Amino acid sequence: MKRVFNFSAGPAVMPEEVLRQAQEEMLDWHGIGMSIMEVSHRGPEFQSVLEQAEADLREVLKVPSNYHVLFVPGGASTQFAMVPLNLLSETNKEADYIETGLWSQKAVQEAKRYGVINVAAQTKLHEGLYSLPLQHEWRLNPKAAYVHYTPNETVGGIEFHWVPKIPGIPLVADMTSSIMSKPIDVTQFGVIYAGSQKNVGQAGITIVIIRDDLVRDPLWHTPMLYRYKTHAEHHSCYNTPPTYAIYMSGLVLAWIKQQGGLTVLEERNKRKAKKLYDCIDEHGDFYFSNVVPECRAMMNVVFWLRREELTKEFLTQAAQAGLMNLRGHRIAGGCRASIYNAMPEAGVDRLVEFMEDFAKRCS
Ligand SMILES: Cc1ncc(COP(=O)(O)O)c(C=O)c1O
Repeated sequence: MKRVFNFSAGPAVMPEEVLRQAQEEMLDWHGIGMSIMEVSHRGPEFQSVLEQAEADLREVLKVPSNYHVLFVPGGASTQFAMVPLNLLSETNKEADYIETGLWSQKAVQEAKRYGVINVAAQTKLHEGLYSLPLQHEWRLNPKAAYVHYTPNETVGGIEFHWVPKIPGIPLVADMTSSIMSKPIDVTQFGVIYAGSQKNVGQAGITIVIIRDDLVRDPLWHTPMLYRYKTHAEHHSCYNTPPTYAIYMSGLVLAWIKQQGGLTVLEERNKRKAKKLYDCIDEHGDFYFSNVVPECRAMMNVVFWLRREELTKEFLTQAAQAGLMNLRGHRIAGGCRASIYNAMPEAGVDRLVEFMEDFAKRCS
């Protein structure tokens, strides 16, 4: 058997311990003689998996009791519609969006189907470097039903390292590529959502953490499965949920606890990201980042080769060295190393070594 270092942006590397546990439990989960994927979602076995996953998520993220934790089928893109459908109302269809990259752009496009969307701020480009708009530059609508932003843009590798403060207006965050990378204060948000396939398991579900008062009647035409109320009232089991995806998330959450929680993971993540950005900056005549240092993403390190024509060879040789999936997003180009929680520090060390060596050989 061989395992490589997988820098995929998502679906992404999983903790090896989690994969091994899933393998061990595949045919006979906890002595029941069946896989957990073979049993009813309403039976005691799966219900215990669901309850434990929720309890662990609440513990790891310190989710207060006035927030629901929902496991919603579909990807984070489903939330691009669910957020406006549920947070706009017949009397207020205005919302603010902060547009900082591909994913927030998609969120805006979807929200426009349902409401009047104000793009209150956008990424800035100055002398070839991208940065995020500071809060005093946001042109917020005081009547907005909510403000939506993307703390980490996975494609551009650009991250807010601060949380906006907007008194009286719910803040909605697409944390798909940053959830579980560090501790957060859940009370600063009205809604947090995150597709599971990066830091919380395999693809198939989206975790939604939503404050009680925001679980309310949606726009009248909202389908049952797009209503937060449906998922909250039925404890994420209105219909048959992707049970195996929830089981895998449960294993990852237990792994996070076992690692020592988010403070420990944040330290490790910061160290990993610093090693890569240091390597890029120290070899500035060969590699470069197009994001200002204070906005660089911890989970998705995007970089470019100054001689762009060498990118293909760089990726080929990296793959031969067991460093896989370093190609940048198909729209953006360049290179991207996604270094989620499950990427061991040894993987980053190997990548840094390879990058230094490649730069030396090709300079
Ligand atoms: C920040 C962010 N939002 C939304 C999405 C879309 O997620 P999905 O493909 O699960 O719909 C992604 C996917 O990578 C993402 O990184």
